[in-house]
Amino acid sequence: METTIAEPKRTQTPPADFLPLEGTDYVEFYVGNAKQAAHFYKTAFGFQSLAYSGPETGQKDHVSYAIRQHKLTFVLTTPLRSGTPIADHVSKHGDGVKYLALRVPDATSAWNETTKRGGKSYMEPTTLKDADGEVVMSGIHTYGETVHLFIERQNYRGFFMPGFRKWESVYNPPDTGLQYVDHCVGNVGWNQMNPWVKFYEDVMGFRNILSFDDKDISTEYSALMSKVMSNGNGFVKFPINEPAEGKKKSQVEEYLDFYDGEGVQHCALATKDIVKTVTDLQQRGIEFLNIPTTYYDTLPDRVGHIDEDLEPLKRLGILVDRDNEGYLLQIFTKPVEDRPTLFFEIIQRKGAKSFGKGNFKALFEALEKEQGLRGNL
Ligand code: FE2
Repeated sequence: METTIAEPKRTQTPPADFLPLEGTDYVEFYVGNAKQAAHFYKTAFGFQSLAYSGPETGQKDHVSYAIRQHKLTFVLTTPLRSGTPIADHVSKHGDGVKYLALRVPDATSAWNETTKRGGKSYMEPTTLKDADGEVVMSGIHTYGETVHLFIERQNYRGFFMPGFRKWESVYNPPDTGLQYVDHCVGNVGWNQMNPWVKFYEDVMGFRNILSFDDKDISTEYSALMSKVMSNGNGFVKFPINEPAEGKKKSQVEEYLDFYDGEGVQHCALATKDIVKTVTDLQQRGIEFLNIPTTYYDTLPDRVGHIDEDLEPLKRLGILVDRDNEGYLLQIFTKPVEDRPTLFFEIIQRKGAKSFGKGNFKALFEALEKEQGLRGNL
């Protein structure tokens, strides 16, 4: 199944990017127990301790741990008291993504440009200072209770952010080769995909580079629709899913039920060696969706020559898909919390800029099997 990425429309003078983005700065999760979550991400995913914020640093109602692996930074935040916005968020949604923080050269301009185009302000431009310099931060709301923060840090020399102190730990498990955020996918409600596509186009200057309708993404039972939004330089990509009618309940609907609203479905984390990364992750207890071994019978015909041996891909359950620019290897974890909500994708791109359309059927059948076991199909 060939997939072609939409080229930018040629105009005589391309408009200047009003929201230049340098990539994902960090992803922050609101969780029920950040101390244990940080231990899990260190142990299972190979993140390293980076920074801490809590009562000892003057933060009275919550605690945050920042952890890092190569260019990938996660922040795990938990409330210390009930009745706070963070506690209410965790009570409603369970563990999930609160902030998709984007690196910008100018957080004041990012806020001005997006709010004047209809973005709803979450945080006006705010300067945070300490002895290592300053970070300017601002933010706007996106789907559900999710927020895009704009982070300007070129005048900061510290290890993470003012308000945090260095977190040194005697426990430093080796990394697993995860490099950066490739894309983060949002699940939105019925008939909400196009309004959110318009939000990313109008408010953030993104464009729709790929669309999948319910015929592309349906199995015997359930269906969904998806549109991929990308910023100008392609560093930041946000696919948006909405449920579609099928014989049984869409996987997106199951998410919306259990997350109690719209939110981030998965973040795709890039690696340069997926066989090594997934071998490490499986040995550390990360569970992946099981793909039927028959998937590999037709793989060579479907994708042609690939550099990797088929045997380890089959053993680990890694999927392969090709587009007109190359191929990609990908695999999906089971949800990383008890609610069937957030999960991760591990991806290695070898030229391909698409999202594995050729794998959707095998993947969603595997997902539905799990959904059926939970009694939610
Ligand atoms: Fe993905």
